[in-house]
Amino acid sequence: MQNLIDKLERNNDLTDEEFIVLLTADSPELDACLAAHARKVREKYYGKDVYIRGLIEFTNHCRNNCYYCGIRRDNPNAQRYRLTMEEILTCCETGQQLGFRTFVLQGGEDAYFTDERLAELIRAIKKRCPDCAVTLSIGEREKDSYAKLFAAGAERFLLRHETADKVHYESLHPAEMSFDHRMKCLQDLRDIGYQVGCGMMVGSPGQTSAQLLQDMRFLQKFQPEMVGIGPFIPQHDTPLAEYPAGTAKLTVRLLSIIRLLLPQVLLPATTALGTIDTQGREKGLLAGANVLMPNLSPTAVRQKYALYDNKICMGEEAAECVNCLAKRVASTGYKIVSNRGDHPAFASKKNL
Ligand code: SAM
Ligand code: FES
Repeated sequence: MQNLIDKLERNNDLTDEEFIVLLTADSPELDACLAAHARKVREKYYGKDVYIRGLIEFTNHCRNNCYYCGIRRDNPNAQRYRLTMEEILTCCETGQQLGFRTFVLQGGEDAYFTDERLAELIRAIKKRCPDCAVTLSIGEREKDSYAKLFAAGAERFLLRHETADKVHYESLHPAEMSFDHRMKCLQDLRDIGYQVGCGMMVGSPGQTSAQLLQDMRFLQKFQPEMVGIGPFIPQHDTPLAEYPAGTAKLTVRLLSIIRLLLPQVLLPATTALGTIDTQGREKGLLAGANVLMPNLSPTAVRQKYALYDNKICMGEEAAECVNCLAKRVASTGYKIVSNRGDHPAFASKKNL
């Protein structure tokens, strides 16, 4: 096993058979060894720094019907909300005072937020918080729309591919959603010049190791700047309510593998990982993750952005979240830093 991990670190690659061994072995020693190698690589590029991104869940209206998602269109129990421009700007100002230099605007695919409205919002954020990066996580749009939002000042985009296996993708989404279009969106974002994040759910119903291998191959080919992975967690009002959640163990192992595949990648220890395991985010940081995404949404709407059951950090004000996370990060020996935390390839471009 040690040989495989050394090889992965050296070449950022393995054969299919070797990957399957890493993905399937039941070995605490393997996990410890993978995590140690992943930490070494993350510290080579990022030292002890942990970047924080302020997540603003600005709308839970969605035209899509993903089978796993609690805010899907056909969930009649989702209480819909949409933040106003002023509310979003207030979240950003609070976040800036708390040390955030990146805001992630995340939401369902909400037709109210036209290109014009979003561009106005992005420009307003940039005006009030000029030293902050704006990341969008608003799903699939057409290329000209992504280009308008980039021109307005958004510089990063998170769009999880969810799974790189088309058949598995189709089992998680209704026929009206297209795997090829999601992949096209990722390529369009890349071509426009965004720092792009993709990623998958771990342990989604029916997922196999062969499909996770396809995810690894996709990540190697696409070379994203960010990778967001988290366990699938069932939500009681969705068609996948009865399926078991993914495990923290496999999610943490994948974080290490991804760090060794893409040494400089920006890799969050996600809220979903913290939800299935109270120490999940700490474990993630100790296994190669270098980003946290605390919630800056107003507490009044947090419960309504219920993608999955038992989501953590529902009641805390932003400042409480940051204090709690700072303690958690300190327990790992790492430290939260207050800077934009661009991907090194983009940070150097900015300095030219
Ligand atoms: N609408 C945007 C999109 O599709 O990219 C952003 C919002 S969407 C809710 C953000 C992510 O939440 C999805 O990419 C998915 O991976 C994750 N998610 C949704 N439901 C989930 C669940 N039940 N368990 C874990 N993750 C979930
Ligand atoms: Fe649209 Fe989940 S189905 S955000």
